[in-house]
Amino acid sequence: MEKDYTKYFKGPSLKEAKHRGKEEVKILKDEFVIPDTMKNIGAGKTYYIKTYGCQANERDSETMRGILESMGYQETKEMDQADVVLLNTCAIRENAELKVFGKIGDLKRIKRDRPDMIFGMCGCMAQEEEVIARLLQKHPHTDLIFGTHNIHRLPELLHEAMMSKEMVIEVWSKEGDIVENVPASRENPLKAWVNIMYGCDKFCTYCIVPYTRGKERSRLPKDILHEVEELKASGYKEITLLGQNVNSYGKDFKDAYSFADLMRDVAKTGIDRIRFTTSHPWDFTDEMIDVIAKYENIMPFVHLPVQSGNDEVLKLMGRKYNAASYKALFDKIKAKIPHVSVSTDIIVGFPNETAEQFEDTLKMVEYCQYDNAYTFIYSPRAGTPAAKMEDNIDLKVKEERLQRLNETVNRYSLAQNKKYLGQIVKVLVEGYSKKGNDMLMGYTDTQKLVNFSGDPKYIGEIVEVEITDAKTWSLNGKICE
Ligand code: SAH
Ligand code: SF4
Ligand code: F3S
Repeated sequence: MEKDYTKYFKGPSLKEAKHRGKEEVKILKDEFVIPDTMKNIGAGKTYYIKTYGCQANERDSETMRGILESMGYQETKEMDQADVVLLNTCAIRENAELKVFGKIGDLKRIKRDRPDMIFGMCGCMAQEEEVIARLLQKHPHTDLIFGTHNIHRLPELLHEAMMSKEMVIEVWSKEGDIVENVPASRENPLKAWVNIMYGCDKFCTYCIVPYTRGKERSRLPKDILHEVEELKASGYKEITLLGQNVNSYGKDFKDAYSFADLMRDVAKTGIDRIRFTTSHPWDFTDEMIDVIAKYENIMPFVHLPVQSGNDEVLKLMGRKYNAASYKALFDKIKAKIPHVSVSTDIIVGFPNETAEQFEDTLKMVEYCQYDNAYTFIYSPRAGTPAAKMEDNIDLKVKEERLQRLNETVNRYSLAQNKKYLGQIVKVLVEGYSKKGNDMLMGYTDTQKLVNFSGDPKYIGEIVEVEITDAKTWSLNGKICE
């Protein structure tokens, strides 16, 4: 029998989170308020946020930074010294959760020395009742827990946490509305994440995201375009349109307006570089391909997660495409978008995946010759359908498969990068390279990392770089002057 922890707290419920109702999504414009008592509470104080997981979390952390800074807090990079510490967590795989629990352990010591510090836990793990139960039982030094749907309530929640001796828990499992007009303090002065939609309705059988992020809902085009115009006016060179599955953008609108329409309108703002992630292979339309190909400021880079190359596994995963239809889409993208690069995500060791089924995944990698692939061992997530599937494959076998897969993936990444040797490519210069020696770094339109020599006066500009060396993960070059 599944344990029912809900009697302990006003917290999340994965069961409730599964529900998809017909209620109209509300766009809330005036929901964010800072109570008078909290307006200057952060003066002379500091905050520290640690972010795990995907770009959705990165962007959410920028919202939390914005909120905390509008209450007077300043950022510190020293967790030990901060007055407010927030862990923005990821629940996608077990090892993501283990990292967070490690950090929560470290915070026990810090809280002992500095009991006035407020420690809050938020993000996708906060949406899981088992996690909350564990915090209640084993980590009572946690002051505050909030989820992915009520970030805008941070000022009130912080106030409650400061006043209360008990752990403050506010997690909403309901499907969620769209809250506009919440401040953000962005990490990068050149590249910005722009949410275009929230949630996911795909319910791939292995995945926790539809439960932690709620139902799919799209921001209004005018709100997105306004944000892009503002970013452009304040000097941003690149934006990434964010959604768990951007192809579904606009499906919840009454009037027809698709992701292709949105990309076209965003392109017309004239911002230098537009990226988007993630696009599910299922409903990637021809119109999307045509728009990406047509506009110079839409970058020729597509992240197209395949997950597996085997039809039976894809069916069990609930991905709703097969190897043949994926390849047909892949070929169309390659044929229509000049010099496009394609990356992917792959899971090995899905429950009872056979050696033959795994070979099909290797064949898929050989067919597509991806520029880059993120590879994972399947991790059962409580509450998802796949977690209930029988699985007799040893972890050792899964690890061997991952290693073989990575060798194949890396071979093709290197081969794709070698094609750039001697070419002149456009790079947005982001800053100094980690390689040192006054080297600069940036990315090509095709999302290749380039380390190159050149004058730092070019930081913030898009320049031409000649590629002189190609490695598996990056390119080297020199600026063309
Ligand atoms: N919305 C994106 C994926 C977001 S999660 C998409 O559908 O493309 C990023 C990646 O994590 C997924 O593509 C998948 O490869 C991996 N992943 C998700 N759940 C997982 C699990 N339970 N075990 C292992 N990998 C998982
Ligand atoms: Fe998860 Fe599938 Fe949704 Fe991606 S599309 S977030 S893998 S359920
Ligand atoms: Fe992780 Fe949540 Fe993103 S589970 S991958 S942070 S949507």
